[in-house]
Amino acid sequence: MRRIGIGIIGCGNIARFHAMALKSLEAEGECELIACADLDGEKAATLANDHGIPNHYTDARAVIDHPGIEAIAVCTNPPFHLPATLMATAVGKHTIVEKPMTMDLAEADRAIEATRKANVRFGVIFMRRFWPAALRAHEAIKAGKIGRPISGDFMFKWHRDESYYRDAPWRGTWKGENGAALVNQAVHGIDMYLWLMSAAGPCTSVYGKWANLTHPYIECEDTAVAALRWENGALGVASVSISTTPTLGSRISITGETGATISVLEDPEGRMGVNDIWTIPGEEASAASELARAREAKEEHFSPFPICHKWQLQDFLAAIREGRDPLVTGEEGRRSIEFINAIRQSTISGSEVRLPL
Ligand SMILES: NC(=O)c1ccc[n+]([C@@H]2O[C@H](COP(=O)([O-])OP(=O)(O)OC[C@H]3O[C@@H](n4cnc5c(N)ncnc54)[C@H](O)[C@@H]3O)[C@@H](O)[C@H]2O)c1
Repeated sequence: MRRIGIGIIGCGNIARFHAMALKSLEAEGECELIACADLDGEKAATLANDHGIPNHYTDARAVIDHPGIEAIAVCTNPPFHLPATLMATAVGKHTIVEKPMTMDLAEADRAIEATRKANVRFGVIFMRRFWPAALRAHEAIKAGKIGRPISGDFMFKWHRDESYYRDAPWRGTWKGENGAALVNQAVHGIDMYLWLMSAAGPCTSVYGKWANLTHPYIECEDTAVAALRWENGALGVASVSISTTPTLGSRISITGETGATISVLEDPEGRMGVNDIWTIPGEEASAASELARAREAKEEHFSPFPICHKWQLQDFLAAIREGRDPLVTGEEGRRSIEFINAIRQSTISGSEVRLPL
């Protein structure tokens, strides 16, 4: 297997998980984690020292241009996702960016166009898609096991308080991330919801509202709801809050025309997803035993090890080697941004918003 030289840009919270996952892939001969950079030199040095990364810098360019680097993992706060992607793409490097992919749709389009034109691989981190329960649900829906999807619900009940926003002042601001609950937390579930519902065609209509009800110290939304329609006529509802104390989790449930329902539940936040509803005739017993196993195992996706980041980075490295798209492409990453923008537009206009945007 060809080892791929990779570097990390942005050495804050999430970069630690990328470093752990990449070092584990390095030990398996898949890659070599060569360099990292952060505007804050101390953070870059700490990440490098903690994870045995041989080179650290304060300039992203130094990582992108470093000999042996073929790919970049962008772990900065959102405003630098597009510039880093464009810088790497311009010199033929492959890029995977943390969610959300960019700040807005025009930026998403620029990233997609640039990476496609340069024929480099481009991925967006949505590691929950690699939960076995999510892959199982997607496969079953795609294989037609519930028939045509006719309804889909997305319920998201997490908790974020003032200390979380104080910890990184960019969070919850228009300039820093262009949103809050939807763009930072719920975007994980929105991505999975739209992915699981994709057998219904694209989402074509959004009537939404958002509000800030309990977080006066941030600029953007902490609550949102939406009524939705898909191309095949399926209907859906989404409800998002980060005011739930204690943090609960999220559930996506999809019903097909056969009447069967499949769910993916994360409860509480951080626990690996499970299929807590699986009513496909003949599969109930095996689904129940897998659910019992998973509930007993209580696996987390970050602790003690960021296993889902490892699985997604492994897919990205394989995509580079095989010259194919990763599971979550730029086009896929754009979908959740489009959806969030539609809720915003609908809130402002008070009317239904037709997609695509
Ligand atoms: N996948 C997940 O579960 C998950 C979890 C947390 C955060 N995230 C995402 O990861 C990203 C980073 O979040 P975080 O919590 O790690 O933020 P953070 O503030 O802890 O870290 C971001 C780092 O990027 C650095 N940076 C900013 N601009 C830079 C530039 N031009 N060059 C080099 N370094 C630069 C900052 O100095 C900072 O150290 C966000 O997009 C966030 O939404 C994803």
